[in-house]
Amino acid sequence: MTSTPKGEGRQTVDNRIVLADSIDVLRDMPSQSVPLVYIDPPFNTGKRKSHQRMTVVRDDQNGDRTGFQERRYRTILDERKSSYEDEFEDYLGFLRRRLVELHRVLTPAGSLFFHIDYRESHYCKVMLDEIFGRTQFINEIIWSYDFGGRSKARWPAKHDVIFWFAKDSTNYTFRYDDIDRIPYLAPSLVGKEKAERGKTPTDVWWQTIVPTNGRERTGYPTQKPLAILERIVRVHSNPGEMVLDCFAGSGTTGDAAARNGRRFLLVDSNPEAVEVMARRLAYSDPILEGFEVQETTLDGKQGVLV
Ligand SMILES: C[S@@+](CC[C@H](N)C(=O)[O-])C[C@H]1O[C@@H](n2cnc3c(N)ncnc32)[C@H](O)[C@@H]1O
Repeated sequence: MTSTPKGEGRQTVDNRIVLADSIDVLRDMPSQSVPLVYIDPPFNTGKRKSHQRMTVVRDDQNGDRTGFQERRYRTILDERKSSYEDEFEDYLGFLRRRLVELHRVLTPAGSLFFHIDYRESHYCKVMLDEIFGRTQFINEIIWSYDFGGRSKARWPAKHDVIFWFAKDSTNYTFRYDDIDRIPYLAPSLVGKEKAERGKTPTDVWWQTIVPTNGRERTGYPTQKPLAILERIVRVHSNPGEMVLDCFAGSGTTGDAAARNGRRFLLVDSNPEAVEVMARRLAYSDPILEGFEVQETTLDGKQGVLV
């Protein structure tokens, strides 16, 4: 892994992980330079988000999980916890400044995917309509999951919202043939061939959260499922293109990009996030800006978060 000092020329030809406030990076980027943006900003819950951290070391003999390219890894729970604050005095103002810049940096055929909590989504939709124009709104995707407690006093809220806005709704990337297929609910009604092929998803995406003990788990709070990001990356960007996530957390967007032959620029203001990302994405040899990762040796092996 190589490391360059913060702010030393922002190239877009490599994979990059940057420790910085997103606004500082965005203001430094050329206009019309990014084909795909996914962001999952803090949801303004007023709480501190925290999670048990864990490290995974390469261990071909005693590994309890399989990682990238079928390598075996062993999980070690870390006494430290990952966390970040999720409370803002002027939440919409904070988002607006960044969304205006994101609109500017999108290429003419570029798209923004904006992931948000159902309690804030309506305010954000109105703001996005103002910044992009109402006619550039394409989809409200509902990510539906089924995990955790179930209220007995109301319908349990088990979804997030992902808005898709194009810079130009008459010209955008939508690789229909690269959409993953899902099973029919009633396969016997559609015939053998169709049932085997499966169907394309609608704007409601059923996907479990990242399982607590799954191999995807980094221990970073609010980590999103790789499957959601892989679908977005495959369908809305072309091979070799750059994907930007400036609230990158555990680096799920970068993982989806690298696994699918795209490049990534990941930004987060939390030192714990960039450390998690650097380890998770070490296989894609990212350039690190504004920080360095200490090579940890556990049982004589290099620590890797997957
Ligand atoms: C909801 S999490 C993103 C989770 C991510 N999608 C994943 O799959 O792991 C939001 C992230 O935004 C980061 N963040 C908050 N304010 C920021 C800012 N001003 N600039 C850059 N990152 C910021 C937080 O540190 C946190 O990691």
